[in-house]
Amino acid sequence: MGKRNFSKRVSYRTSDAMSKFVLAQDPETISFAGGLPDNNLFPVEELKHAYEEVLRTEGNLAFQYTSTCGDIKLRELVGKNLFKRWNKTIPADNIVLTEGSQQALDLLGKLFLDDGDIALIEEPGYLGTIQAWSMYSDNLIGIPQDEYGIDTDYLEEKLKELKDLIKVLYVVPDFSNPAGTCLEIKRRLKLVELSEKYNFYIVEDLAYSLLSYDHETYPPLVTLSDSNKIITIGSFSKILSPGLRTGFIIAPKDITQIIVRLKEGTDLCSGTLNQKLIYHFYKLGYLEKHVEKLRVAYRTKRDSLKKALDEKFKDIAKWNFPQGGFFFFLVFPEWVDAYKLAETALEQKTSFVPGEEFFVSKRGKNTARISFSQVSPEKMAEGIKRLHIAWELYKEKEEVFL
Ligand SMILES: Cc1ncc(COP(=O)(O)O)c(C=O)c1O
Repeated sequence: MGKRNFSKRVSYRTSDAMSKFVLAQDPETISFAGGLPDNNLFPVEELKHAYEEVLRTEGNLAFQYTSTCGDIKLRELVGKNLFKRWNKTIPADNIVLTEGSQQALDLLGKLFLDDGDIALIEEPGYLGTIQAWSMYSDNLIGIPQDEYGIDTDYLEEKLKELKDLIKVLYVVPDFSNPAGTCLEIKRRLKLVELSEKYNFYIVEDLAYSLLSYDHETYPPLVTLSDSNKIITIGSFSKILSPGLRTGFIIAPKDITQIIVRLKEGTDLCSGTLNQKLIYHFYKLGYLEKHVEKLRVAYRTKRDSLKKALDEKFKDIAKWNFPQGGFFFFLVFPEWVDAYKLAETALEQKTSFVPGEEFFVSKRGKNTARISFSQVSPEKMAEGIKRLHIAWELYKEKEEVFL
């Protein structure tokens, strides 16, 4: 056998969906594909002001390496402020700042998984987690979601079957990507109970938790229990800017110490300047106001997408009504191949992500993630009209007459 210079992991699961549908940059395309924040909503003036504050108060140190676990002031701020609504304070020692929460996911894959180890992921589940964890083990198992989030009865059966083999479970409790679901409180409590009983870790991802449009979310798992089996990750990408690449991991102190070791091998430290910028942006009182503004803007977009879908797709697909986040998740009849529909949609200058990308079990061929975050309310109806034309053309190609 010839010499293999590259590691085995380079041949693990890949997907062309991101480059093909999300990054399609034709300016005439109305894109429902990306889970990106709206460019027009970045608070540029406030960021400028916060930048000046960084330079005025921190001077040269803003350009220096920081500790691997991240800027102490921002860690304290995350610990004191992000969970105060739930009367919970988290010590800075339990927090590691990361290069976006994607790095947090990679580090957690590195922490938990050797090749062949089992990780459970809510299904449909976040593609970035599937991609990150697939690099460490090809043994990811999907646990289905229904309209109330991950199905804890199904999970319990799986746990009974696989017992000690399960190391970690990943969930997005608030407004999941791609399903848009919000995990009901009963199931949150059940998850915590199961993780204690069956001795596995839970990674809860709060990427969208502050972007709720109708009512406050339920408490995050980390506020429901003092269990040392809960690891929480979060991000400033959706509530401020993904370009600042700042996220965080909250974990028991013995685990953050290991994570810091793993992280040292990756980057020594994440971007000091951006961490300080976020800290000053918050201190100046901008973050809370900005999140309020985002809630109003994204709520309007969500409502106009719902209206457009109701008009054109009511008798064709079923979907959830997300109470926050960025996504509608459409389920078409069984015979539909949403990947082919997405290719036809691209020709009609609109795009979405085929849902099968979010299923480790390879199910979900007839599903689609439709994101409203980047489309203006005025263009929503036009985009869905194009999608409907694509649907008619796709049906003709498949010779299905309903
Ligand atoms: C559920 C979820 N987690 C994590 C991320 C990663 O975000 P970032 O690395 O920008 O923090 C995303 C981005 O879309 C996401 O949807």
